Amino acid sequence: MKIAVIGSTNIDVVSYIDKIPAGGETRAAQNFHTAHGGKGANQAVAAAKLGADVLMVTAVGDDMFGKGALENFKRNNMDTSRVNVVEGVATGVATIIVEASGQNRILLYKGANDKLTPELLAQAEDDLKNCGLIVLQLEIPLETVYAAIDFANENKIPILLNPAPAVKELSIEMACKCDFFVPNETELGILTDMPVGSREEVKAAAASLLAKGLKNIIVTLGSKGALWLANDIEEYVPTRKVQAVDSTGAGDSFIGCFVEHYTESGDILASIKRASQYATLSVTKKGTQDSYATADEFEKFFSA
Ligand code: RIB
Repeated sequence: MKIAVIGSTNIDVVSYIDKIPAGGETRAAQNFHTAHGGKGANQAVAAAKLGADVLMVTAVGDDMFGKGALENFKRNNMDTSRVNVVEGVATGVATIIVEASGQNRILLYKGANDKLTPELLAQAEDDLKNCGLIVLQLEIPLETVYAAIDFANENKIPILLNPAPAVKELSIEMACKCDFFVPNETELGILTDMPVGSREEVKAAAASLLAKGLKNIIVTLGSKGALWLANDIEEYVPTRKVQAVDSTGAGDSFIGCFVEHYTESGDILASIKRASQYATLSVTKKGTQDSYATADEFEKFFSA
């Protein structure tokens, strides 16, 4: 079953540093690299690395970053027929700082991602009709996200919405039209205006969204695993302990693995269990897409 990811493509400019500089301070970074990123692209590449058939609907600039991103998608055997190259615009850039703990901070310049309009999306409708799942995040215009949700509903295509980065204006009514809603704790806190410091608080915040009509809420909890809440369902899925070196893109790897396994098996809980382990494996390596395991690499880790 083909998976469509409608979302962002960025180039990540990453500095690894022992301590975040204070305002006005200059500090030396210990390491640096540039890499392919963007929440949409990361999720798509993770699913493709695990063997999924992926259609990428995105926009890049007509610059060297855009060319590189397109080649990267092709190298990962993805369908790039709906990668739009927008003239006179820069490809999205994420400036990322990773601390010694593996914790990251991201500053995003959206660039071409902001040009992925509902009109461009409409051009992909025939291809989207052949997909069994549509995956969305919030690094593209909200109006495009809403157009994708309406299109998917009209065509009875299930949707996974990852509300990242959290945008307070996100319409909960539109989110209710999605089959899966997958925030991390921080995003859940921002979207509900509720505390999320403990497991009980996370549950209460997610329950407040269920009460509004959301269906399956899967909260990713970083090193603590994930929590799945739906009507009459509450499943906490822990993950194994590892030495984290870089958590950037771990949430994206969770979603890529979840959609790959879910579209194959239809089993939500099994897909969450695999996705938690896949994300855990990703934090043991530096980078975003570079840290995502192939199907063989992941099977070894999963069955160990
Ligand atoms: O989720 C991680 C991603 O967020 C990075 O790859 C960066 O591009 C930002 O979009």
